[in-house]
Amino acid sequence: MAILSIITAPDSVLRQVSRPVVTIDAEVRKLMDDMLDTMYAAPGVGLSAIQVGVAKRIVVVDAAKDPDPPAPIRLVNPEIIWQGPVAGPHEEGCLSFPEQYEEVERPTQVHVRYLDENEEIRIAKATGLLAIALQHEIDHLDGVLLVDHISKIKRNIIMRRMKKMRRLQTAE
Ligand code: NI
Repeated sequence: MAILSIITAPDSVLRQVSRPVVTIDAEVRKLMDDMLDTMYAAPGVGLSAIQVGVAKRIVVVDAAKDPDPPAPIRLVNPEIIWQGPVAGPHEEGCLSFPEQYEEVERPTQVHVRYLDENEEIRIAKATGLLAIALQHEIDHLDGVLLVDHISKIKRNIIMRRMKKMRRLQTAE
């Protein structure tokens, strides 16, 4: 168990396309556990491996809301195999864009096929926050970010803020 450091924009690592995982071994399972610890500590509802600097197609999510018990999901090589016909807006954040929230339009329902931590093929039929989190995290595996889903004007504003945040951190 460990809390990993989260890479923030505009780091170019976030633009990398992640590689499929070939074998789900102890190292991959440990990475997923550490990613969950990191996500809960942040706190956030999802995290992709590239956000902690590992270019592998691995995602963790937990869209459970208080007071429901935690419902962590570990996804290896996740793929969206079906999107619902209805799209809707939802305010999204991203642990790589601290304190930035933007409305993004996405399908409200998706089916995602993935391998679980025991290499079993599973299909998650997701709606609501889980559907949004899964689409957001799977985007990360292809180097696609929250800011790619908004207007150029808003994107420029956020990227300027991120660069400013970085300068302040470096100056500390
Ligand atoms: Ni994100």
